[in-house]
Amino acid sequence: MIPESFIQDVLARTDIVGLIERYVPLKRGGANYMACCPFHNEKSPSFSVSPTKQFYHCFGCGAHGTAIGFLMEYCGMSFRDAVKDLAQQCGLQMPEDDAPQQDRARTVSLLDATLRAARYFREQLRHAPTAIEYLKRRGLTGEVARQFGIGYAPDDWNGLRTAFGADYDEASLVEAGLVIQNDAGRRYDRFRDRVMFPILDQRGNIIGFGGRVIGQGEPKYLNSPETPLFEKGRELYGLFQARQAIREAGLVVVTEGYMDVVALAQYGFGAAVATLGTATTATHIQKLFRQAEKVVFCFDGDNAGRKAARRALENCLDQLADDREVRFLFLPAEHDPDSFIRVEGLEAFRRAVDEAMPLSEFLLQTLRGDLNLGIPEDRAKLVHEARAFVPKIAAPVLQVQTVRLIADDADMSAEEVAHALGIRLPGSRHGNRRSPPARPRTPRTAPAGPQRQLLHLTARFPELLDRLPGDLEALFGESAEATLLQTFRDAHDHDHFSAATLAALYESCEDDARRALLLELLNHEDEAFADDDAREVARQAARLEFDGHFTNLQIAALDHEFASLQQRLTRGEALNTEEMRRFRELPAEKQQLRSGQKMS
Ligand code: UTP
Ligand code: MN
Repeated sequence: MIPESFIQDVLARTDIVGLIERYVPLKRGGANYMACCPFHNEKSPSFSVSPTKQFYHCFGCGAHGTAIGFLMEYCGMSFRDAVKDLAQQCGLQMPEDDAPQQDRARTVSLLDATLRAARYFREQLRHAPTAIEYLKRRGLTGEVARQFGIGYAPDDWNGLRTAFGADYDEASLVEAGLVIQNDAGRRYDRFRDRVMFPILDQRGNIIGFGGRVIGQGEPKYLNSPETPLFEKGRELYGLFQARQAIREAGLVVVTEGYMDVVALAQYGFGAAVATLGTATTATHIQKLFRQAEKVVFCFDGDNAGRKAARRALENCLDQLADDREVRFLFLPAEHDPDSFIRVEGLEAFRRAVDEAMPLSEFLLQTLRGDLNLGIPEDRAKLVHEARAFVPKIAAPVLQVQTVRLIADDADMSAEEVAHALGIRLPGSRHGNRRSPPARPRTPRTAPAGPQRQLLHLTARFPELLDRLPGDLEALFGESAEATLLQTFRDAHDHDHFSAATLAALYESCEDDARRALLLELLNHEDEAFADDDAREVARQAARLEFDGHFTNLQIAALDHEFASLQQRLTRGEALNTEEMRRFRELPAEKQQLRSGQKMS
């Protein structure tokens, strides 16, 4: 859990306009900045970024959020990563990172090291005819090589010294995996005489490299070791370059190799990424589903490819949803995606992607293995095997479908299979339903009562918070509004209350009702005051309005108290002296509030 105060700090120091500008060209339009929305296709701009609210909103598709939300949506980052990223940019240290203080400085210099190395490799490629010849032979143009930042590490034990000079001896070069230090303390370049593929994170930072030997040699690919920047189980090669194409295609193809990604792009299929010599992890899949609803695994046609597919299958089940789709594309045994698209062409590859095997079918195939379903024992084995997969399927409807398929194969009823797998079929008469009802997608909006009005007014003029009584609950009861007002008050006490506070609250809030309220506040029209006088007039008006709603709330509370006492009396219940006193005084108290209201 990232503390909210930290998120607020980060958002307060981040300029959303500057951030978004890096990805989307913005044009000033009145108080806001406008652009064609990066989240849907459009010809005229309906995407607006508000510098005062530090919030973006698309009037076309409804996309909206803070700087954090933008990084999550646009770069597909997790909440945590987005906060971390912004924190890094504004020089804040993530609180839970209990690593020593020097960590931040080091990470920066690691990125610096990889960037300088990548520049050097790119530069070296221009003077390396054998490497250029190799890439050409593999069908790559200079354009695609540039797009992926491909370079060349010369056949030199200390080539990087040219790029780094005296800095070559910095510890960060070793930590970044660029330089190896032997036991005698001598340093040398890790990558020598290799074609270099820089590995980018989702922001385009260079976090590592893969280096391919030219022609034959071992190892074929040499990769950066895991470093503080580079964790293989999280990163996907080519994701940064593929984002736009993924969005346009509505799907992403996952391959096994650097060259697969580059070759697919070369031949016009940009929506491809590769795992980095590791199995597909749940983190990978999570990342991919942030970019597209359909993921197609395309592994080599060989045995290793099948095995990789099986791992991917296992790791994706709990990332599924009924509006997500996973397919498996098995190429002919002699092909990998690179050779396939070169031989068969773009259209054939597209067709193969479209016709890829649905997850359910691959799952059934995997379960069947070489069982003989004519034998009861083997049918039992089938169901037994299924225990490792089917309960993990996080898409409830697909899970039922899969149970049915297995039931057909096993010659059992769906209920029997479900029972054997320890899962409950929805709607079955026995047991309660497994999945809670789907959450509504649009936030519900209650009619705007005095509570809501108070909330809006305090969001505009936080000093109004001081006019509220200490005990909010007595007056408001338990409501999302009351909780938020209390939160506002806490934030105000710490002198942090601003648009960024609202955005931060929105970003970190997990309660649907409260989120809906915050969004309502964040989306409210920008107020532009001609001058200080105009602002003062608005402030006065807001205060009067505030007091009016506040009094109405108090009156409502008195009415409620009176009604419940009266009810008890009519039921013949005895009231104690204090209650009797309240009962007698309440009408007068109410009258007083009313007249006070008239006077002001
Ligand atoms: P492949 O052996 O399938 O290579 O390894 P490839 O991608 O088809 O490469 P080309 O076409 O021969 O150039 C697939 C992936 O496994 C990792 C790399 O990430 C590679 O892209 N790998 C492979 C290594 O890390 N080291 C190796 O020695 C081999
Ligand atoms: Mn290959």
